[in-house]
Amino acid sequence: MSAPDSLFVKACRLQPVERTPVWFMRQAGRYMPEYRAVRKQYSLIEICKHPQIAAEVTITAAEALGVDAAIIFADLLLPLEVMGLPFHFSPGEGPVIEKPLRTAADISALRTDRAADLGYVAEAVALVCKQFGAKLPVIGFCGAPFTLASYMIEGGGSRNYIHAKKMMYSSPRAWDELLGKLVAVAGEYAAQQVRAGADVIQVFDSWVGCLSVNDYRRYVLPRTKELIKQLQKTGAPVVYFGTDSATLLPAMSETGAEVIGLDWRIPLDEGWRSVGKKTGVQGNLDPVLLFADWKEIQPQAEEILRRAAGRPGHIFNLGHGILPETPVENVKALADFVKQYSFETASR
Ligand code: CP3
Repeated sequence: MSAPDSLFVKACRLQPVERTPVWFMRQAGRYMPEYRAVRKQYSLIEICKHPQIAAEVTITAAEALGVDAAIIFADLLLPLEVMGLPFHFSPGEGPVIEKPLRTAADISALRTDRAADLGYVAEAVALVCKQFGAKLPVIGFCGAPFTLASYMIEGGGSRNYIHAKKMMYSSPRAWDELLGKLVAVAGEYAAQQVRAGADVIQVFDSWVGCLSVNDYRRYVLPRTKELIKQLQKTGAPVVYFGTDSATLLPAMSETGAEVIGLDWRIPLDEGWRSVGKKTGVQGNLDPVLLFADWKEIQPQAEEILRRAAGRPGHIFNLGHGILPETPVENVKALADFVKQYSFETASR
């Protein structure tokens, strides 16, 4: 842990802070010219596997935006490779898993003993921590069991999650074995990042919103809770994020995560009521709003801060990651606005 007294870490622990901390999911990405320049020389996976370069990309983005936390540059799917499922990124198509899991035997064959081979991510975390010291906290991350399982079974992104849900409904034991293996690997992988200095872990359950509340509780919540409890043993607070999650929020907060990440579909105060007042919230401006003029963005950012009402435990973010082609000046203006406006309203 390198910046335990930072605004962001304090807010994750629901402690009062003098202004609202702000960072953005995918703050290092293709919308940023500095990132595109690095990508001309290296593929996404090459960046991830070279700690120097991954650290540089992480640091450059956090400094360019003036945000209150740096999220380590990596990808959600890296653990698949060490479990025995190679994948690549195909332009325009996104991630492609070469041999998706389709049977119980495929799941039994997955390995859980090679999380140490992901050490390059922890090395990058250590470099970023060294650069920022106590000045800026570093966020490590991993995928949640459901979202990782959905990629492994579907073979890539999906619209209806037919293969994943079919496995969940028709082979519940194999499904649970898979989620258990993912908890083991993701838990160890995230713990490596904390040992290297990460202050907070964010667990991405990006696609969990495709589930009914009942199915979430039955097939996903127990293993997700297990992962989050395991991560908390490292001493780092956990942010648990999903999209399309309005109906799932009460169940998601039962995982015990310190903070729940909200998407933009729910008003922030309503989302906060759903997760309960003992849990913090992160969010939740629509990332597509950043394509509009500043005069449209500002009142909506202000509205989110008004709904948070300065209560301890709000971290400003988008409701999902920054999209390619987003105007950089709007992202910078948003970070500046949140810092200034929340400071002025807090000190009034
Ligand atoms: O937030 C950050 O700045 C840290 C970097 C980060 C990346 N991926 C780098 C990346 C993080 C936090 C992720 C997580 C991730 N990866 C998620 C969960 C977050 C979410 O958005 O819900 C998911 C679902 C993935 C899997 C993945 N990786 C997808 C679906 C894609 C998009 C493919 C495409 O072509 O658009 C990626 C690629 C990826 N990961 C990019 C970045 C910056 C863009 C691709 C590139 O640089 O070529």
